[in-house]
Amino acid sequence: MKDQEIVGRSVIECEGIHSFTPAQLAQKLERGKIVSFPSCPFPLPDLDLLSKLRAELPLSLKVKNVSYHPEADRLIGVSGNRRLEGLAKQVLVEHSERVESFLQSVLGDFTDNWVVGTSSFRPIEERGRCLGNHASNELVHVDAGAYGATNGSRILRFFVNVNPLDDRVWATRGTFAELFERHHTAAELDELLGSNRDLEKGPLNRVRSSILAGLAQVGVSMARSLDSSPYDRAMRRFHNYMKDDAEFKASSIGYEEMRFAPWTAWMALTDTASHACISGRHALVNTFLIPLENCRETKSAPMEILRSFAANRAARPSD
Ligand SMILES: [Fe+2]
Repeated sequence: MKDQEIVGRSVIECEGIHSFTPAQLAQKLERGKIVSFPSCPFPLPDLDLLSKLRAELPLSLKVKNVSYHPEADRLIGVSGNRRLEGLAKQVLVEHSERVESFLQSVLGDFTDNWVVGTSSFRPIEERGRCLGNHASNELVHVDAGAYGATNGSRILRFFVNVNPLDDRVWATRGTFAELFERHHTAAELDELLGSNRDLEKGPLNRVRSSILAGLAQVGVSMARSLDSSPYDRAMRRFHNYMKDDAEFKASSIGYEEMRFAPWTAWMALTDTASHACISGRHALVNTFLIPLENCRETKSAPMEILRSFAANRAARPSD
């Protein structure tokens, strides 16, 4: 199988599922590449069911997206329509199993001890959605947290464009490493990291996290999303800076657009590959947390970049 880089510098296309070894594929993801497939590399949900979801979910949507949360075996986002809720849950659970099995086959031990997260359907046109800045997908950002604290785990997301007619259009401004290097001061991370050199959780934070994880397992809605850590707070600050700062948003440094045609699929470590969805409607999105210890390209991992920055600041003689 041959492989090739296609669109600009950020996207790598896999012509076949064995274009790369698991180690090569993991390396590309860790370095912030967006890996795309010219067609979804495993069977998609039944087309009639997808068609029903496309038509009906926007009418019953009560939050930003419809998501299946495996830790609570619960669907969030649909209200007032039990039949539709059951249908969406069935589609998202089955799709999640297929994504999971595909990723295990192509990424090998990169997926060891991963956390299988949400399986979502994005039913609304992203362009002009008028969400608040921090919730908007139209503004370029790196992901911070994935329905709760990641504690440095990498956020792997797998996307399928299930719109039969329209491309899903993304933009990027480069990798976290590049962006942090240029913008850490403007994002006011110098002080935060300087006063909070230990990016790991302390004992109190760990107790809080285990309580929230327990509540999530017994179905307390969104308990997990309340969890945080020093690392996740630093990432959240950078995420918010990218979406709020007028100067950052007006700049075109590193800007690149890419189009994903109907029925194509792509994946990225979205804590590293900056991204925005500037237009598109109807996508399936699956989230996984990859333990930091599975990563080999440590220089690219946000946790290592923040740690190294904090350590260098700590080592500098004070004025
Ligand atoms: Fe995102």
